[in-house]
Amino acid sequence: MEKRILFKYIDDPDQIHIDTYIKHGGYRAWEKALKSMQPAQVIDEAKKSGLRGRGGAGFPAGMKWSFVPKDSPKPRYLICNADESEPGTCKDRVLMEQDPHGVVEGMAIAAYAIGSHLAFCYVRGEFVKPATLMEQAIREAYDKKMLGRNIFGTGYDLDMVVHTGGGAYICGEETALLNSLEGERGMSRIRPPFPAIEGLYACPTVVNNVETLAAVPHVINNGGDWYASMGTEKSKGTKIFSLSGHVKKPGNYEVEMGTPLSYLINELGGGPLDGHKIKAIIPGGSSTPFLLPEQIDVPLDYESIAAAGSMLGSGAVIVMDERTCMVWVIERLIHFYRHESCGKCTPCREGTGWLEQMISRIEKGEGKPGDLEKIDSICDNILGRTICPLGDAAVMPIQSALKLFRDEFQYHIDHKKCLVKSEFEFK
Ligand SMILES: Cc1cc2nc3c(=O)[nH]c(=O)nc-3n(C[C@H](O)[C@H](O)[C@H](O)COP(=O)(O)O)c2cc1C
Ligand code: SF4
Repeated sequence: MEKRILFKYIDDPDQIHIDTYIKHGGYRAWEKALKSMQPAQVIDEAKKSGLRGRGGAGFPAGMKWSFVPKDSPKPRYLICNADESEPGTCKDRVLMEQDPHGVVEGMAIAAYAIGSHLAFCYVRGEFVKPATLMEQAIREAYDKKMLGRNIFGTGYDLDMVVHTGGGAYICGEETALLNSLEGERGMSRIRPPFPAIEGLYACPTVVNNVETLAAVPHVINNGGDWYASMGTEKSKGTKIFSLSGHVKKPGNYEVEMGTPLSYLINELGGGPLDGHKIKAIIPGGSSTPFLLPEQIDVPLDYESIAAAGSMLGSGAVIVMDERTCMVWVIERLIHFYRHESCGKCTPCREGTGWLEQMISRIEKGEGKPGDLEKIDSICDNILGRTICPLGDAAVMPIQSALKLFRDEFQYHIDHKKCLVKSEFEFK
């Protein structure tokens, strides 16, 4: 069953307007936090809820907020990461387009928790509509005096701005995002220092994903224990999964953490396309290793997906049926990662280029004996050796495909053609 918490009013076209949002209980949590809670209590409630970051890494939100130094004389910043560029992921866009005040309210509460008076929403460059709707929501919140000076008469000030990026995947990586926001080229920074200590303009900064922040008003309204009552022991609450690929009903579905992947694919997504069998599933966005159809009952939570050999990531589930050539899939993915590499570190900059050249050669039927071993070696020399996780993201699906579908790659090399008789043209 879908469990709609963040998506409760997503189908109401008026939800984008502040009056409707307020009618549905909106901004109550913001008022409650400001008027009756200390920032430390907000952080405690977030910790109690077990809410983990929905941007991919699953880091506990309350703990991240608590890393911001309380005694720093510098300003602190809250950034909503709305770059959403992981292939397959399309949930943050829907939240911003259909319930933007939920994101604004979550940002406001998180900003208050860390003592920030300026919050940014960094929106992916191509997201014109979400950025416009976020700007409209922020303007409405200023008009109702929910943002600006002396909010709810408490003396607390908070400004909020939308900043659009230039459309680079790497700018979703939090330190490249900070560079981009400062007007620099979007390149990742070496950590430490971590953003909570030295982030935007070298000031303490928290970066959280749109979905993480949109969950915050519900945590404050209903309490951390309520949120923690949903999900599994370590993966609490609900999560929005973006289901795409060879299923009858692709879309965004909010379910309780721990819901079986088979339920998402077969019940909510209507199952594979008629007459076809599932061949592989990417469970957490294009950066994550593949799962096989026999793993379809795995619960959708961080720990279970990890135990199955992959990652929950951003929750983008991509289903591929038996007509899919895995060499072609990998060629598309490595093309993407090579293109999006920021070029700062050698293993990623050079390695993704070599991988793309070799894999596209194999795909075209021009592979040579020894290519797969060379690809294995390049992957080993990228994994864990780069400044940011984009290098790992580029090689994890390749390593997984070479482990699970090596015969297809070998067939391309030996026979100069594809093993999969594709009746279905993807290109
Ligand atoms: C290459 C790369 C791209 C990323 N893109 C996004 C993105 O588009 N949106 C996002 O929220 N996090 C993205 N992340 C994760 C962020 O670096 C960061 O962990 C996240 O915004 C933190 O928010 P959370 O704790 O709420 O998940 C990306 C990470 C990497 C390595
Ligand atoms: S891993 Fe790639 S994207 Fe990340 S810093 Fe290095 S070159 Fe840039």
